[in-house]
Amino acid sequence: MKKLFAVLGDPIGHSMSPFMLNDLFSFYNMDSVYLPFHVKGENLHDAVKGLKAVGVGGFNVTVPHKSNIIPFLDGIDELAANIGAVNTVVNENGQLIGYNTDGPGFLKGLTSLVPKIADQKVLIIGAGGAARAIYFTLAKENPRKLDIANRTIERAVSLINECPYSVSSSACSFDEAYELLGEYDLVIQTTMIGMSPKIYEQPIALNNLRKQSVFCDIIYNPIETQILKEARLNGASIQNGIDMFVYQGALAFEKWTGIFPDVNRMRDNVLKQLGGKTC
Ligand code: ATR
Repeated sequence: MKKLFAVLGDPIGHSMSPFMLNDLFSFYNMDSVYLPFHVKGENLHDAVKGLKAVGVGGFNVTVPHKSNIIPFLDGIDELAANIGAVNTVVNENGQLIGYNTDGPGFLKGLTSLVPKIADQKVLIIGAGGAARAIYFTLAKENPRKLDIANRTIERAVSLINECPYSVSSSACSFDEAYELLGEYDLVIQTTMIGMSPKIYEQPIALNNLRKQSVFCDIIYNPIETQILKEARLNGASIQNGIDMFVYQGALAFEKWTGIFPDVNRMRDNVLKQLGGKTC
């Protein structure tokens, strides 16, 4: 019998996950289907109960349900619990267990540019949900510094204070980050500033960015944000958000099937889907 996988979100129409994951299931000859479900917050508990009742193999959770879903699950792993957000649920012998593959996906996608986070000086721009997943994941990797720049500094301070992993961190404003930029080996832009349609916005200018640094923007639409272009023109190595998206999906697929999939195939599919609507 066909096995069901799903993604729950509100909205969900623009999710690229069904295309990416259905292609993998057919590529690996698995009799499975991955369906998007538009679920409003008030129906989330019923949706989870329904999926469990029909024996779902697993599912993804996206905005705005990543935190709200936690009480409806049977268990949650340590990293997801610390982050306070779940993006992947696995049906483990009838128990729905929550994981977070967003941060680990970002880290794995970065390996070719930054093989080891240990001893790196890292700046994260933004302190929202995505920043939180990345901060907690990188904090476990022993960076020399893991700072956060955010418009609302208090939010960056709270994030740092809530992290159970020991790491040297400070919070700063965008103006302070602009001045200090030359100190960092790795800078990660996690806000939605620069995302389509407001493609000409960026949180900070990069005049002080080091040429040898690595600059990541987790946005993938457009494929190259204005800030990523500036980083590239300044001589930094750059990475857009496609890898984080692809690797979070690859890690979810691995949790469900035991197979770590062909990420190049996934990346090509995402690029195909983004074709024509990248700005
Ligand atoms: P996500 O889950 O996608 O990270 P989020 O939790 O709403 O989304 O977080 C959005 C991030 O983008 C925050 O860091 C937010 O800054 P604040 O904490 O000050 O709100 C940042 N952000 C969004 N719009 C912004 C803007 N116009 N200027 C500066 N920062 C912005």
